Amino acid sequence: MIIYEAKDYKDMSRKAANIISAQIIMKPNCVLGLATGSTPIGTYEQLVEWYHKGDLDFSKVTSVNLDEYRGLEKSNDQSYDYFMHEHLFDKVNIHPENVNLPDGMAEDAEKECKRYEELIRSLGGVDLQLLGLGHNGHIGFNEPGAAFEKETHCVNLTERTIEANKRFFASADDVPKQAFTMGIKTIMQAKKILVIASGEDKAEILKEAFFGPVTPAVPASILQLHNNVIVVGDQAVLSKLTNKDEYVTNADYRK
Ligand code: GLP
Repeated sequence: MIIYEAKDYKDMSRKAANIISAQIIMKPNCVLGLATGSTPIGTYEQLVEWYHKGDLDFSKVTSVNLDEYRGLEKSNDQSYDYFMHEHLFDKVNIHPENVNLPDGMAEDAEKECKRYEELIRSLGGVDLQLLGLGHNGHIGFNEPGAAFEKETHCVNLTERTIEANKRFFASADDVPKQAFTMGIKTIMQAKKILVIASGEDKAEILKEAFFGPVTPAVPASILQLHNNVIVVGDQAVLSKLTNKDEYVTNADYRK
Protein backbone atom coordinates (compact mmCIF):
# COMPACT_ATOMS: atom_id res chain seq x y z
CA MET A 1 0.00 0.00 0.00
CA ILE A 2 1.26 3.43 -0.85
CA ILE A 3 -0.16 6.39 1.03
CA TYR A 4 0.27 9.80 -0.54
CA GLU A 5 -0.25 12.78 1.70
CA ALA A 6 -1.92 15.73 0.01
CA LYS A 7 -2.06 19.22 1.48
CA ASP A 8 -5.79 19.64 1.31
CA TYR A 9 -8.89 18.50 -0.59
CA LYS A 10 -7.84 20.29 -3.78
CA ASP A 11 -4.41 18.73 -3.72
CA MET A 12 -5.92 15.29 -2.99
CA SER A 13 -8.24 15.70 -5.97
CA ARG A 14 -5.37 16.71 -8.23
CA LYS A 15 -3.18 13.82 -7.16
CA ALA A 16 -6.03 11.34 -7.61
CA ALA A 17 -6.84 12.78 -11.04
CA ASN A 18 -3.18 12.43 -11.97
CA ILE A 19 -3.25 8.73 -11.11
CA ILE A 20 -6.45 8.20 -13.12
CA SER A 21 -4.97 10.15 -16.05
CA ALA A 22 -1.85 8.02 -15.95
CA GLN A 23 -4.06 4.93 -16.16
CA ILE A 24 -5.90 6.30 -19.20
CA ILE A 25 -2.67 7.34 -20.90
CA MET A 26 -1.01 3.98 -20.29
CA LYS A 27 -4.08 1.99 -21.35
CA PRO A 28 -6.51 4.12 -23.39
CA ASN A 29 -9.10 1.32 -23.49
CA CYS A 30 -8.99 0.74 -19.75
CA VAL A 31 -11.93 -0.13 -17.51
CA LEU A 32 -12.36 2.43 -14.77
CA GLY A 33 -14.34 1.55 -11.67
CA LEU A 34 -15.89 4.82 -10.54
CA ALA A 35 -17.38 6.07 -7.31
CA THR A 36 -19.83 8.72 -6.13
CA GLY A 37 -20.10 10.70 -2.91
CA SER A 38 -18.72 14.13 -2.17
CA THR A 39 -15.07 13.02 -2.06
CA PRO A 40 -14.55 12.32 -5.80
CA ILE A 41 -16.23 15.52 -7.05
CA GLY A 42 -12.95 17.48 -7.12
CA THR A 43 -11.19 14.59 -8.85
CA TYR A 44 -13.80 14.55 -11.60
CA GLU A 45 -13.59 18.34 -11.93
CA GLN A 46 -9.86 18.07 -12.46
CA LEU A 47 -10.24 15.31 -15.05
CA VAL A 48 -12.81 17.41 -16.93
CA GLU A 49 -10.42 20.38 -16.90
CA TRP A 50 -7.59 18.31 -18.35
CA TYR A 51 -9.94 16.85 -20.94
CA HIS A 52 -10.88 20.38 -22.06
CA LYS A 53 -7.22 21.30 -22.29
CA GLY A 54 -6.80 18.39 -24.69
CA ASP A 55 -4.64 16.38 -22.30
CA LEU A 56 -7.05 13.48 -21.80
CA ASP A 57 -9.08 11.30 -24.11
CA PHE A 58 -11.91 9.12 -22.79
CA SER A 59 -13.00 7.84 -26.21
CA LYS A 60 -11.82 4.27 -25.56
CA VAL A 61 -12.50 4.19 -21.82
CA THR A 62 -15.22 2.00 -20.32
CA SER A 63 -16.59 2.69 -16.87
CA VAL A 64 -18.39 0.59 -14.31
CA ASN A 65 -19.74 2.28 -11.23
CA LEU A 66 -19.53 0.82 -7.79
CA ASP A 67 -23.10 1.19 -6.69
CA GLU A 68 -26.57 2.63 -7.24
CA TYR A 69 -29.58 3.28 -5.05
CA ARG A 70 -32.45 0.88 -5.52
CA GLY A 71 -35.72 2.45 -6.60
CA LEU A 72 -34.50 5.74 -8.04
CA GLU A 73 -34.99 6.49 -11.73
CA LYS A 74 -31.88 7.54 -13.65
CA SER A 75 -33.50 10.95 -14.06
CA ASN A 76 -33.77 11.42 -10.29
CA ASP A 77 -31.09 13.95 -9.37
CA GLN A 78 -30.06 11.81 -6.39
CA SER A 79 -29.39 8.70 -8.44
CA TYR A 80 -25.75 7.83 -8.93
CA ASP A 81 -26.41 7.63 -12.66
CA TYR A 82 -27.43 11.30 -12.58
CA PHE A 83 -24.42 12.20 -10.44
CA MET A 84 -21.97 10.56 -12.81
CA HIS A 85 -23.45 12.29 -15.85
CA GLU A 86 -23.48 15.62 -14.09
CA HIS A 87 -19.91 15.45 -12.81
CA LEU A 88 -18.13 13.49 -15.51
CA PHE A 89 -19.83 11.60 -18.32
CA ASP A 90 -21.60 14.57 -19.92
CA LYS A 91 -18.45 16.66 -19.75
CA VAL A 92 -15.93 14.36 -21.45
CA ASN A 93 -15.88 12.25 -24.60
CA ILE A 94 -16.68 8.89 -23.03
CA HIS A 95 -19.13 6.96 -25.24
CA PRO A 96 -22.57 6.65 -23.63
CA GLU A 97 -22.61 2.94 -24.46
CA ASN A 98 -19.37 2.46 -22.53
CA VAL A 99 -20.82 3.77 -19.31
CA ASN A 100 -22.23 1.22 -16.85
CA LEU A 101 -24.03 1.36 -13.53
CA PRO A 102 -26.30 -1.11 -11.79
CA ASP A 103 -29.90 -0.45 -12.85
CA GLY A 104 -31.59 0.91 -9.75
CA MET A 105 -35.02 0.24 -11.24
CA ALA A 106 -34.41 -3.42 -12.04
CA GLU A 107 -37.26 -5.42 -10.58
CA ASP A 108 -35.42 -8.67 -10.22
CA ALA A 109 -32.55 -7.76 -7.91
CA GLU A 110 -30.81 -11.09 -8.16
CA LYS A 111 -30.87 -11.06 -11.94
CA GLU A 112 -29.54 -7.50 -12.04
CA CYS A 113 -26.64 -8.35 -9.72
CA LYS A 114 -25.76 -11.32 -11.88
CA ARG A 115 -25.93 -9.22 -15.04
CA TYR A 116 -23.63 -6.59 -13.55
CA GLU A 117 -21.10 -9.09 -12.30
CA GLU A 118 -21.03 -10.83 -15.68
CA LEU A 119 -20.62 -7.52 -17.43
CA ILE A 120 -17.54 -6.69 -15.34
CA ARG A 121 -16.14 -10.11 -16.08
CA SER A 122 -16.82 -9.77 -19.81
CA LEU A 123 -14.93 -6.47 -19.84
CA GLY A 124 -11.89 -8.30 -18.49
CA GLY A 125 -12.21 -6.83 -15.01
CA VAL A 126 -11.54 -3.39 -13.62
CA ASP A 127 -8.12 -1.85 -14.27
CA LEU A 128 -8.42 0.93 -11.73
CA GLN A 129 -11.09 1.14 -9.06
CA LEU A 130 -11.69 4.48 -7.38
CA LEU A 131 -13.07 4.28 -3.84
CA GLY A 132 -14.29 6.72 -1.24
CA LEU A 133 -14.50 5.74 2.41
CA GLY A 134 -17.72 5.77 4.44
CA HIS A 135 -17.62 7.02 8.04
CA ASN A 136 -18.23 3.49 9.27
CA GLY A 137 -15.54 2.07 6.98
CA HIS A 138 -17.89 1.07 4.19
CA ILE A 139 -16.73 0.89 0.60
CA GLY A 140 -19.35 1.15 -2.09
CA PHE A 141 -22.35 0.14 -0.01
CA ASN A 142 -20.64 -2.76 1.68
CA GLU A 143 -21.63 -2.01 5.22
CA PRO A 144 -19.94 -3.35 8.38
CA GLY A 145 -20.58 -7.06 8.66
CA ALA A 146 -20.72 -7.64 4.90
CA ALA A 147 -19.16 -10.94 3.95
CA PHE A 148 -15.85 -10.49 2.16
CA GLU A 149 -16.75 -13.12 -0.43
CA LYS A 150 -19.76 -11.28 -1.86
CA GLU A 151 -20.03 -10.18 -5.45
CA THR A 152 -22.50 -7.55 -6.70
CA HIS A 153 -25.55 -7.72 -4.45
CA CYS A 154 -28.48 -5.76 -3.08
CA VAL A 155 -28.06 -4.37 0.45
CA ASN A 156 -30.17 -2.76 3.13
CA LEU A 157 -28.52 0.52 4.05
CA THR A 158 -27.60 1.08 7.70
CA GLU A 159 -29.11 3.91 9.71
CA ARG A 160 -25.66 5.55 9.81
CA THR A 161 -25.38 5.60 6.03
CA ILE A 162 -28.95 6.84 5.60
CA GLU A 163 -28.17 9.56 8.14
CA ALA A 164 -24.92 10.49 6.34
CA ASN A 165 -26.57 10.59 2.94
CA LYS A 166 -29.75 12.42 3.92
CA ARG A 167 -28.03 15.79 3.38
CA PHE A 168 -28.58 15.18 -0.34
CA PHE A 169 -32.30 14.45 0.06
CA ALA A 170 -35.28 16.46 1.34
CA SER A 171 -35.35 14.24 4.46
CA ALA A 172 -34.00 10.95 5.81
CA ASP A 173 -37.31 9.35 4.78
CA ASP A 174 -36.52 10.11 1.15
CA VAL A 175 -33.20 8.24 1.20
CA PRO A 176 -33.70 4.84 -0.44
CA LYS A 177 -33.40 1.97 2.00
CA GLN A 178 -31.64 -0.35 -0.39
CA ALA A 179 -28.86 -0.20 -2.95
CA PHE A 180 -27.02 -2.35 -5.43
CA THR A 181 -23.30 -2.52 -4.81
CA MET A 182 -20.27 -4.33 -6.11
CA GLY A 183 -19.29 -6.73 -3.37
CA ILE A 184 -15.98 -6.85 -1.56
CA LYS A 185 -14.96 -9.77 -3.77
CA THR A 186 -15.71 -7.73 -6.92
CA ILE A 187 -13.74 -4.78 -5.56
CA MET A 188 -10.78 -6.96 -4.55
CA GLN A 189 -10.58 -8.33 -8.08
CA ALA A 190 -9.74 -4.88 -9.48
CA LYS A 191 -6.14 -4.77 -10.67
CA LYS A 192 -5.44 -1.50 -8.92
CA ILE A 193 -7.38 0.38 -6.26
CA LEU A 194 -7.25 4.10 -5.56
CA VAL A 195 -8.77 5.22 -2.27
CA ILE A 196 -9.39 8.91 -1.70
CA ALA A 197 -10.29 10.43 1.63
CA SER A 198 -10.32 13.85 3.14
CA GLY A 199 -11.23 15.60 6.37
CA GLU A 200 -10.63 15.11 10.06
CA ASP A 201 -13.97 13.37 10.54
CA LYS A 202 -12.61 10.34 8.67
CA ALA A 203 -9.16 10.30 10.31
CA GLU A 204 -10.08 7.67 12.88
CA ILE A 205 -11.79 5.31 10.42
CA LEU A 206 -8.93 5.66 7.95
CA LYS A 207 -6.46 4.62 10.64
CA GLU A 208 -8.67 1.70 11.62
CA ALA A 209 -9.19 0.62 8.02
CA PHE A 210 -5.56 0.60 6.99
CA PHE A 211 -3.74 -0.10 10.23
CA GLY A 212 -6.27 -1.98 12.33
CA PRO A 213 -7.23 -5.65 12.08
CA VAL A 214 -8.69 -6.94 8.84
CA THR A 215 -12.31 -7.53 9.77
CA PRO A 216 -15.77 -7.40 8.17
CA ALA A 217 -16.62 -4.90 10.95
CA VAL A 218 -14.54 -2.41 8.92
CA PRO A 219 -15.13 -3.37 5.27
CA ALA A 220 -12.30 -1.19 3.92
CA SER A 221 -9.79 -3.09 6.08
CA ILE A 222 -9.79 -5.91 3.50
CA LEU A 223 -7.89 -3.56 1.20
CA GLN A 224 -4.80 -4.23 3.32
CA LEU A 225 -4.70 -7.62 1.59
CA HIS A 226 -4.80 -6.22 -1.95
CA ASN A 227 -1.39 -5.97 -3.56
CA ASN A 228 -1.91 -2.72 -5.46
CA VAL A 229 -3.61 -0.09 -3.34
CA ILE A 230 -2.90 3.61 -3.45
CA VAL A 231 -4.39 5.86 -0.79
CA VAL A 232 -4.47 9.60 -1.37
CA GLY A 233 -5.52 11.50 1.72
CA ASP A 234 -5.25 15.09 2.81
CA GLN A 235 -3.33 16.10 5.92
CA ALA A 236 -6.51 16.19 7.99
CA VAL A 237 -7.56 12.62 7.23
CA LEU A 238 -4.01 11.35 7.76
CA SER A 239 -3.56 13.34 10.96
CA LYS A 240 -3.97 10.28 13.19
CA LEU A 241 -1.05 8.55 11.51
CA THR A 242 1.64 10.91 12.75
CA ASN A 243 3.32 8.37 15.00
CA LYS A 244 4.20 6.09 12.09
CA ASP A 245 6.23 3.62 14.16
CA GLU A 246 3.07 2.35 15.78
CA TYR A 247 1.80 0.97 12.54
CA VAL A 248 2.42 -2.04 10.38
CA THR A 249 5.34 -1.48 8.10
CA ASN A 250 3.93 -2.57 4.76
CA ALA A 251 2.60 0.92 4.12
CA ASP A 252 4.85 3.20 2.17
CA TYR A 253 3.97 6.70 3.34
CA ARG A 254 4.95 9.50 0.98
CA LYS A 255 4.66 13.18 1.75
C1 GLP B 1 -21.74 6.66 -0.08
C2 GLP B 1 -21.23 5.85 -1.28
C3 GLP B 1 -19.79 5.45 -1.13
C4 GLP B 1 -18.99 6.66 -0.71
C5 GLP B 1 -19.42 7.08 0.67
C6 GLP B 1 -18.66 8.26 1.23
O1 GLP B 1 -22.47 5.92 0.83
N1 GLP B 1 -22.01 4.69 -1.57
O2 GLP B 1 -19.32 4.90 -2.34
O3 GLP B 1 -17.63 6.37 -0.71
O4 GLP B 1 -20.80 7.38 0.66
O5 GLP B 1 -19.17 9.44 0.73
P1 GLP B 1 -18.51 10.84 0.86
O6 GLP B 1 -17.39 10.87 -0.10
O7 GLP B 1 -19.59 11.81 0.50
O8 GLP B 1 -18.07 10.97 2.28
